[in-house]
Amino acid sequence: MDLTKIIEGRREYFIPSPIVDGSIPRKVDDAFFNPHQKLNRDFSVLILRIYAKINKKLTLRICEPFGGVGVRTCRYAVEVPSEAIHYNDVNSDAIKVAHQNFSTLSKQDRNKISIYNKEFTDFLHSLYIDHPIMDFIDIDPYGSPIPFVSRSLKFVTLRGLLAFTATDLASLSGLYPRALYSKYGIGIFETRIGNVHELAARNLITGIQKIGLTQNQSVLPVFTVYYRHFIRTFLIRERGVDKVLDSTGFLHKCQKCNCIFHTSLKSKNVRCISCDSVQLRSIGPLYLGKLHDEMYLSYLKEEPHLMDLNGAKKIKKLINLINEENKLDIPWSFDVQNIAKDINEPIPPMNFIVKRIIDRGHKCYKTHFSGSCLKTNASYNDLCEIVKAGIE
Ligand SMILES: C[S@@+](CC[C@H](N)C(=O)[O-])C[C@H]1O[C@@H](n2cnc3c(N)ncnc32)[C@H](O)[C@@H]1O
Repeated sequence: MDLTKIIEGRREYFIPSPIVDGSIPRKVDDAFFNPHQKLNRDFSVLILRIYAKINKKLTLRICEPFGGVGVRTCRYAVEVPSEAIHYNDVNSDAIKVAHQNFSTLSKQDRNKISIYNKEFTDFLHSLYIDHPIMDFIDIDPYGSPIPFVSRSLKFVTLRGLLAFTATDLASLSGLYPRALYSKYGIGIFETRIGNVHELAARNLITGIQKIGLTQNQSVLPVFTVYYRHFIRTFLIRERGVDKVLDSTGFLHKCQKCNCIFHTSLKSKNVRCISCDSVQLRSIGPLYLGKLHDEMYLSYLKEEPHLMDLNGAKKIKKLINLINEENKLDIPWSFDVQNIAKDINEPIPPMNFIVKRIIDRGHKCYKTHFSGSCLKTNASYNDLCEIVKAGIE
């Protein structure tokens, strides 16, 4: 296998040479490494460091069942306060490259890593005998992480951290409603409730939480990021179902006046909160709580390791947007592109729209989900009027 080198977290790593420069690797390649997931790995390092600080843990026990060529494992060894990292991959070609990467580490960091070449279920089964409890489990498979949630939950300590990557955005965004229902258990009758990627993130979290509920667990997100072709969410495991049930409900869009609103799980005979119509299209049951924990975000802004990452400026920009969107606890955001399409008008500059919304006395924040996406307590009609008026 041809190898080439990349730099992440200020170190060089071996990776399989891409077939075409800049191409996204495929499942069938000898060993899988996706350079476009650097941001996923960067955020994983940052969130783990913050998790350790918040929970006053000096070192972490980490489980990585889908380790690929070991870049992420090396980064957890070098950049995170870790004592043990259990690396696994079913693909022996990936393991060969991982060995090369591990051999470049200092003896102290290399000694933290145990290597397994097993299928996910067999790996967790064999690990469970000697190392039953982890602080963190990293689920980074192809497509949907749902098949791996149940076993992962049993593996992390109470208030332990779990991270899941999903790349099946077509299912998650409701493009294929049958797939969304089959994989994530969410009934969708309206796909255009706000921004599609925020909806996809909530669908992913809901699917994970539903499996937690069957084990009498609440898994609650502390940080969630969408970028290019993936969603990555970090969640904490807690005992009991109340926290999840209390933040689950339905999103509705009124077919008469386009008002968007949400209701709790137990609400009955729902009518539009603006025009009293019963002509609603809805999605749910869905996680309606915050996507990010305030404390994690405040640590993230100040995390000194951020400046050690290449591309720190881009990461900071994303963190700033995520901070913005978290200021308003509303479980959807408007996509101005959709609104402009509805009323057949061109889109004025986003800064102009934000200013006009604030001038009307509402709150309004940009989000990281899309450049045309706004989180605001203004109404659909307010936004239509602002877009229609355009720049005088
Ligand atoms: C998306 S890649 C992981 C990339 C890696 N985490 C990184 O950051 O570079 C998925 C990896 O999981 C492995 N894999 C897929 N299904 C698996 C299974 N059922 N059990 C164990 N490994 C599996 C694949 O061989 C592949 O290397």
